[in-house]
Amino acid sequence: MQRLTNRRILLGITGGIAAYKSAELTRLLKGAGADVRIVMTPAATEFITPLTLQALSGHPVHLQLLDPEAEAGMGHIELAKWADLILIAPASADFIARFSAGMGDDLLTTLCLATDAPICLAPAMNQAMWRDPRTQDNVRQLSAQGVTLLGPGVGAQACGDTGPGRMLEPEELAELAAEQFEHGALSGLRVFITAGPTREPLDPVRYISNHSSGKMGYALAEAAVDAGASVKLISGPVTLTPPSRVDCVQVETAEEMLAASLDGIAGCDLFIAAAAVADYRPISVAEHKIKKGNEEIMELRLTKNPDIVATVAGLSEQRPYTVGFAAETRDVIGYARSKLARKGLDLIVANDVSNPDIGFNSDDNAVTLVSADDEVALPQASKRQLARQLIEQIAQHYHQSTK
Ligand code: PMT
Repeated sequence: MQRLTNRRILLGITGGIAAYKSAELTRLLKGAGADVRIVMTPAATEFITPLTLQALSGHPVHLQLLDPEAEAGMGHIELAKWADLILIAPASADFIARFSAGMGDDLLTTLCLATDAPICLAPAMNQAMWRDPRTQDNVRQLSAQGVTLLGPGVGAQACGDTGPGRMLEPEELAELAAEQFEHGALSGLRVFITAGPTREPLDPVRYISNHSSGKMGYALAEAAVDAGASVKLISGPVTLTPPSRVDCVQVETAEEMLAASLDGIAGCDLFIAAAAVADYRPISVAEHKIKKGNEEIMELRLTKNPDIVATVAGLSEQRPYTVGFAAETRDVIGYARSKLARKGLDLIVANDVSNPDIGFNSDDNAVTLVSADDEVALPQASKRQLARQLIEQIAQHYHQSTK
């Protein structure tokens, strides 16, 4: 079920007595970490109320194709693009017939036509309707077109008959839905990532900072989500839009970044520090703008900032697997190794920032992943590509450490 973390599931409910089980199915999918949006056919609302499903999914239920309010928010095409998986449970004989005929006469059939996402059907109907050659032709045709059939089960039916046509139980459907997704390298893990620079104020209009754009950290957050993790991104001030499905906490200073990093750290499995944190901050922040005086030289007094990644790595209880970055301009691996040891990290990503084509504020990067007994060089690539490689490598080390 870990594969459902962060997955977007559009649950379609059609008219049938098994619709009451969709409430439990919604609860199970949500509990496994999926984001669930619900579309009901008009007939489904005769069996279970949209309000129940709204409360369980945490989102308004979509009911009609031509709903100006819904189209202004998430319209039918957005919903079709949003879904990672469309699961229709229960799928009635009528819905299966309309779907296999390629009709788009309600919201659910239209979504099925408009989506690129895989579609799973959990048929639910009377055994005679299921055995009917027209229903069998329809499901054969849909299967041949790549639609996955989940069930139906065999047994006693609501109408008193016995035979094939029962909807599978919600627990089984949730498991089968999870199996539709590849097992991501970070499935089910909670990952914290720091990104971007910090800003250390001098007065209301000035600050000390650096050239970090946040691109590396944001790319790592996106790659971690795609690997199945649930991600908290703790970001200094940057101009990037956070990747979707990431819980992004915006901070300014190193002290704020430390507080946001420690908030909920007990539930964090993997901590990756890609931020360029200011090592020092002004000892005091002037209340008003500092005025130019007659002196030729102005001295600033600075005090050391807390070391965020070292604090996390030094936690005595529920310490997450901790990965730092080392931005260096010379003896890159040597300095990275000494930071790995000094900060008590599990891994460090050595980043040569002397080359303007990589490192700070560039679209590309090239790094070496350094562990206590190994080094893996990842040659120049876009930060997004590199982030995927890094996440794969880091995940392997993480899983090795938990064996
Ligand atoms: O943001 P981009 O423009 O994409 O650029 C990416 C990057 C070059 C900023 C990134 O890849 C990188 O190298 N980040 C680390 C930069 C850095 O500050 O390195 P450092 O060697 O000073 O720090 C070592 C480690 O300690 C880092 O993981 C840093 O996040 C952490 N640290 C440092 C100081 C501090 N007070 N607290 C920390 O947690």
